[in-house]
Amino acid sequence: MKTEPMKKILVIMGSPRKGNTFRACEDLRELMQQDIPVEFEYLWLKDAHLLPCKGCYICIPRGEEKCPNRDDAPAIEEKMRQADGVIFASPVYGMNVTGQMKTFVDRLSYIFHRPRFFDKKALLLSTAGGIGNREVLGYLDTVAGVWGFEVAGKAGLLIPPGSTIAPFRVTKNQNVLKQAAQDFSAALSRETTKSPGLMKVIIFHAQRAAFSQMEKESPCDYQYWKTQGWLSPDARYYVDVPVNPLYGTIGRIFEWIQVRNIRKDLQGTGKP
Ligand SMILES: Cc1cc2nc3c(=O)[nH]c(=O)nc-3n(C[C@H](O)[C@H](O)[C@H](O)COP(=O)(O)O)c2cc1C
Repeated sequence: MKTEPMKKILVIMGSPRKGNTFRACEDLRELMQQDIPVEFEYLWLKDAHLLPCKGCYICIPRGEEKCPNRDDAPAIEEKMRQADGVIFASPVYGMNVTGQMKTFVDRLSYIFHRPRFFDKKALLLSTAGGIGNREVLGYLDTVAGVWGFEVAGKAGLLIPPGSTIAPFRVTKNQNVLKQAAQDFSAALSRETTKSPGLMKVIIFHAQRAAFSQMEKESPCDYQYWKTQGWLSPDARYYVDVPVNPLYGTIGRIFEWIQVRNIRKDLQGTGKP
């Protein structure tokens, strides 16, 4: 094992029980410990005081501190800030993440507008009896990616309900977990932030097109973007990393078109 500082991993656990998803995370922990020193902390959403979103939409334009729910949401965000890496773990329930995981995402939805986790790595883990891992991993990929995380590893495991699991499936799950553990450990050991792909650059420009025009409509987003320096014409991405010039050009063209559309939309507000 390399002599590296201990990495703090926060597991956002979407399962309502200590079952397959928990066991898979523990297997992952053991595999990662073969590569780097890690300590896991489990944040069980089932035990957190996290109320469902009321839909008032105050957090997005006016700030998360104005949310009428008084519960663990700010502390959960703080825990993510304190970690080096975050594992988003959910079983597939009804072809999607569990209700606990969805409530967590809903309550922290302001981060889609004001992303902040660019120095953090994420791993996505889901377990299913048959189908739905692709949907859950895809959804969590969008969430973690837009929130700023570098999604470094993914593991979708098939664990049929009942006591028996076919040996070939055990081997397949182990291989998937092993690969995800290696990818996550390697990303955690790397101090640098990766250059963004085309889609991430487009998202940056699409968001800038919207929030630069919404000083009145969404003052909190506007101020956040301004304070981060992201509204400056020199800003090419959320963080100072090399951006492929072609991606930058495509992003700027996209932004220019979007700004025109948004201005038209905003001028039309309130008109019959
Ligand atoms: C309410 C419920 C809904 C489920 N829906 C699906 C599903 O849509 N697709 C699937 O493949 N498995 C489904 N399953 C099976 C679980 O995803 C699977 O057994 C998982 O490993 C359970 O993880 P856990 O032990 O952490 O709860 C469902 C299980 C439950 C309890």
